[in-house]
Amino acid sequence: MGMSIADIVAVSDDLTAAGVWTRHPDKVTSAPLPASAYVGDDLATLLAASDVIIDFSLPAGTERVVEAAVAAALPLVSGVSGLSDDQAAQLKSAADRIPIVYDRNMSQGVAVLARLVAEASKALGPEFSIRIDETHHVHKKDAPSGTALKLGEAAAAARGLDFKEAKHFDDESSPLPGQIEFQVERRGEVPGDHAVILANDSERLTLSHSVQSRDVFARGAVTAARWIVGKPPGFYTMADVLFAD
Ligand SMILES: NC(=O)c1ccc[n+]([C@@H]2O[C@H](COP(=O)([O-])OP(=O)(O)OC[C@H]3O[C@@H](n4cnc5c(N)ncnc54)[C@H](OP(=O)(O)O)[C@@H]3O)[C@@H](O)[C@H]2O)c1
Repeated sequence: MGMSIADIVAVSDDLTAAGVWTRHPDKVTSAPLPASAYVGDDLATLLAASDVIIDFSLPAGTERVVEAAVAAALPLVSGVSGLSDDQAAQLKSAADRIPIVYDRNMSQGVAVLARLVAEASKALGPEFSIRIDETHHVHKKDAPSGTALKLGEAAAAARGLDFKEAKHFDDESSPLPGQIEFQVERRGEVPGDHAVILANDSERLTLSHSVQSRDVFARGAVTAARWIVGKPPGFYTMADVLFAD
């Protein structure tokens, strides 16, 4: 993801990469960085030359990024999924001090899909069951995906349900009425397919999204980075980036 973002920034007219935070500077080979770019593991040095931070590391790395972003008073865009409750709380509390766009799916399509899912779940009501199917490549470690959980949370909130109680992810048993069922498949190199199926005995509505290339997440992150500069402290998502005036 980091390389994809650097590639997109390299061909944009309005952005310059201040540098790359990495434990392995020798591995940063494919991204065309400007000669002035800092490449190394000293976050403070990198942030001193930056207007905005885009973080696609892993949860352990992101704790340091959030601390450094607050210390440097810089806006942060984070797409790191699989955060623990403590790490998510750290991010939320940092948003009291700096503006943060955080989203487990940076694509525009999923931000719109989450809205459609909320509307459909509310309008169709509890008579319609909800099932969320997701398929990803075989390397993906977490399940259900962060995106599937996000869609489930949108459906639960729209119906006034507690998501933790409504979530049903268990092949061995059937969901109880009112629960939101998750089905997960791991296959080949699929970048990410999600479908939300609302059904009763006589009709079925399917809302779905399919990622064609992982570049879509990098493009969304760069769009969010442009949007967040100059915003007041707060916790924002891609829906804010897309739907705000
Ligand atoms: N929100 C979205 O739309 C979206 C889309 C795709 C992916 N993601 C998430 O984005 C993240 C990155 O995905 P990816 O596929 O690019 O993963 P990746 O290939 O494993 O890259 C992770 C990067 O983070 C660095 N890193 C990990 N732990 C670190 C630490 N403790 N300190 C410093 N650097 C650390 C790694 O550096 P080393 O090489 O030194 O290990 C590596 O460069 C994941 O959390 C993934 O779930 C989100």
